[in-house]
Amino acid sequence: PPSFLYDCDTGVDDALTLLYLASLVRAGEAKLVGVGTVHGNIDPLTGALNTIRVLEAAGVHAGDVPHGEPGVPVAVGAARPMAQAVHFATDWHGTDGLGDTHLPEPVGRPAGESAAAQIVRLARTMPGELTLLATGPLTNLGAALLLDEELPSLLREVVVMGGAFDHPGNITTHAEANIWHDPEAADLVFAADWPIVLVPLDATHPTAVHDDWLDRLAAHDTPVARFAARILEFYADAYTPTLRRRGAVIHDALAAMLAADPDLGEYAHRPVRVELRGELTRGTTVWDARSLPAEDTRRPVKVAVGSDVAEFQERLLASIMSL
Ligand code: BDR
Ligand code: CA
Repeated sequence: PPSFLYDCDTGVDDALTLLYLASLVRAGEAKLVGVGTVHGNIDPLTGALNTIRVLEAAGVHAGDVPHGEPGVPVAVGAARPMAQAVHFATDWHGTDGLGDTHLPEPVGRPAGESAAAQIVRLARTMPGELTLLATGPLTNLGAALLLDEELPSLLREVVVMGGAFDHPGNITTHAEANIWHDPEAADLVFAADWPIVLVPLDATHPTAVHDDWLDRLAAHDTPVARFAARILEFYADAYTPTLRRRGAVIHDALAAMLAADPDLGEYAHRPVRVELRGELTRGTTVWDARSLPAEDTRRPVKVAVGSDVAEFQERLLASIMSL
């Protein structure tokens, strides 16, 4: 089974992704070797505590426990981007990052090392084995690349939720949030020589779930399903004006599912760059869409341009209900 190292900004859709990963772990279909958190939806310490809360709720032992067996390590990462001010997305995720549900303190505690150091350490411990799944701004991955120049050869694959190509942005006209929150870090990641799968808004937006899916979740009377339904209530309220009906785009879970089962996606292979200077376009992902031989010498990124929407929605719902 794949071994995941997950980097996120937990976050409603990140939390649902943790539930999906927990269901794979509990079914023996994946390993979760660590989680790192980063600024983005909320600050990284809140994100780490949220991560431990969600994993504990899903029955996965997480964090350090005094005098107990250590669980999945959860490391706090970068508190700010490389070259701009920090911004949080509390309008979308609530002041606690989990839809203002204000869950109690978790039992487990975050690890003593930084998320970037954890990436390097785990990649060195399991060379060639890890899938690094990133669904927040890419500051920790960028910092890890600066810490260890051999990192690209040590990972099996890097799967990133971020960017927008033919789809409009979700934070400016062209820019998607995870890239816009740290464009310099994102460009370092796309410039590195490692196999990247990028899951942009073009792929995630068509997977939006609506009333029928939300109602089926709300009707499932287990603690995990109740928690998922509650955090989604806040998130769906925030999404209603954009979608022009009640619903939610659970971006990060699509990236996780495509990492676990690539056959659910359709892909284009092109080098990707991030606009770092544009007055109106900073933080935008750019690819050369002309049908010419690529002039860009960067290693092509495998960009998801579509997915099996019905299968994604059913599997995500079933995974939450299984916990
Ligand atoms: C991305 O931005 C964040 O708010 C979400 O968690 C997701 O990772 C979507 O643009
Ligand atoms: Ca996220």
